[in-house]
Amino acid sequence: MSEKLNSALDTAGPQAGRIEDLWWLLFGFCAVVFVAVMAVLVAALVRRRTPDESMEPTYAGQRTALRYVGAGVLATGAILLGFLIASVTTDRGLDEIETGGARVLTITGRQWWWEIRYEDARPDRVVVTANEIHVPVGQPVLLRLRASDVIHSFWVPSLAGKRDLIPGRDTGLWIQANRPGTFQGQCAEFCGYQHAHMRFLVIAQPPAEFDAWLEGQRASAPEPATDEERRGREVFLAGSCVMCHTIRGTAAGSIVGPDLTHLASRQTIAAGARPNTRDHLAAWVADPQRTKPGARMPVPELPPADLQALVTYLRSLR
Ligand code: CUA
Repeated sequence: MSEKLNSALDTAGPQAGRIEDLWWLLFGFCAVVFVAVMAVLVAALVRRRTPDESMEPTYAGQRTALRYVGAGVLATGAILLGFLIASVTTDRGLDEIETGGARVLTITGRQWWWEIRYEDARPDRVVVTANEIHVPVGQPVLLRLRASDVIHSFWVPSLAGKRDLIPGRDTGLWIQANRPGTFQGQCAEFCGYQHAHMRFLVIAQPPAEFDAWLEGQRASAPEPATDEERRGREVFLAGSCVMCHTIRGTAAGSIVGPDLTHLASRQTIAAGARPNTRDHLAAWVADPQRTKPGARMPVPELPPADLQALVTYLRSLR
């Protein structure tokens, strides 16, 4: 899978594709207008009168000038009207998508991470994860967007336009990926100290691969396989971690922070702030403020051996 940099001009889905078309249309027209204006300006400079020529305006000269101004105003009006029509048509088109039986995800923006919920009619089949959205290629997905604290904005340029997440006012956004790949997204509305570290990934997979992933996420956390992992789980459940996090299959069920049931299966930690490696995870847990100043996660104050056991356990949550 290739990792795509954020670009609204490298699109992988119908919604972003429409926006890209609009971008090129506006760019093309504006480029032509710019060149035309510059050409007229240069022509005017070349034709500047020499000082001994009469500066008195003539009737015929004024009529010619008025005709030019009139033509300029008409052309400007026509182009702006055309842009307006193109923008409205694009906006309408963003909601035109095959909707039958589409998968529904609820995305909640929080300071500073994303909660991802795969809805299901059966509550025991609902999957909750964080900062990584897996979607099946070629199938439309409806994202229900909400915020729990301040205004955030959901933006994955290769797949769709921005959509604000406003506390108390749920919105929706269709996305569809037409090819497999990993697409970067980020919060696009300043939402506090760690706004820049509020990233996420959209991972588009062939449907069969996606279904297997979702089935894996439905499972409870694996049982610890070693003494170190067992000790790590005890540390987790006895310390402050359990106050905020869920690990399904254990007594930890709080929803203040991200669900950690399958933490080790994710590519990044702290909403894209660091890659999900043992060292980064240990540094993050030992002192979250160092990795992400202002983060809501408190320092757990663990002895080094407990910290290492905890990290070993967290790394086993595949
Ligand atoms: Cu959330 Cu910026």
